[in-house]
Amino acid sequence: MEIVSTIKELKERIGRWKKQGLKIGFVPTMGYLHEGHLSLIRESRKHSEVTVVSIFVNPKQFGPNEDYQQYPRDWQRDRQMLEKEGIDLLFYPTVEEMYPDGYRTYVEVKELQDRLCGRTRSGHFRGVCTVVLKLFNLIQPDEAYFGWKDAQQVIILKKMVEDLNLPVKIIPCPIVRDIDGLALSSRNTYLKAEERAAALILKKSLDLAEKLITSGEKDAEKIKKKMVELILSEPLARIDYVEIVDLKNLESLDKLDGEALIALAVYIGRTRLIDNFRIIAGGIEK
Ligand code: PAJ
Repeated sequence: MEIVSTIKELKERIGRWKKQGLKIGFVPTMGYLHEGHLSLIRESRKHSEVTVVSIFVNPKQFGPNEDYQQYPRDWQRDRQMLEKEGIDLLFYPTVEEMYPDGYRTYVEVKELQDRLCGRTRSGHFRGVCTVVLKLFNLIQPDEAYFGWKDAQQVIILKKMVEDLNLPVKIIPCPIVRDIDGLALSSRNTYLKAEERAAALILKKSLDLAEKLITSGEKDAEKIKKKMVELILSEPLARIDYVEIVDLKNLESLDKLDGEALIALAVYIGRTRLIDNFRIIAGGIEK
């Protein structure tokens, strides 16, 4: 595994592979890696000739009152994990390398960026799209792998790729969970023991929604109400949102009769967690 931190070194490696006509798979991350990240990397390794991973805690996708400074980082551990996965190149830039003084350009996916997580995390998806477009331009991947864990991120990035005619295919991958059902997230490390137990309420409320849907319930309000009631029974939980939306435009649905995203964001203590499942082509995807 090669590690490069500068754009100059990165371009040199990518240029070499492009000349050889190799298929490049790319997995962007913010590090503090877990099995969720590794599942994307393994998928890329299966389908590509070279796999590039980036680790960059992108300051532009954190709001002023968010956890950019506290976001967990463990370079040595991440490096060892990637070494074992047999990736070809790790891009590990500094903030100055990605955003030199005088940086001015941003990418927005209008409307989609303001829904769900965008309501409380203003500017978040603008930061995500900006950094991902820069990384796509630098790495020129044939395919880029993202987790359904961040469903809105997948939907927005697909729209960006479509709208800007980018020559990359977004490959969304299933959510990886702990054995008890909690979706893996670098932010789970913030949870104290008692909060870790309380955090299971997210998955439990999704399981409840799934049960209602498979037994024929189509009224989105009724499903959301039952989910909210269950979450409120957990004293450490505070709801940001519980939504049932159209999978493409993220607009609220009254009735479930096509593709849908059932998504929620819940604070457990001070930690904000997200989770979801989708209804795609009539089937449930978790
Ligand atoms: P990060 O949170 O590090 O996640 C990197 C990738 O791993 C994302 O595609 C995310 O959806 C995926 N992922 C995280 N937890 C997962 C899980 N439990 N199961 C499956 N996939 C999971 O998402 C970001 O970083 C950033 O926004 C980024 C795209 C790198 C841009 O800065």
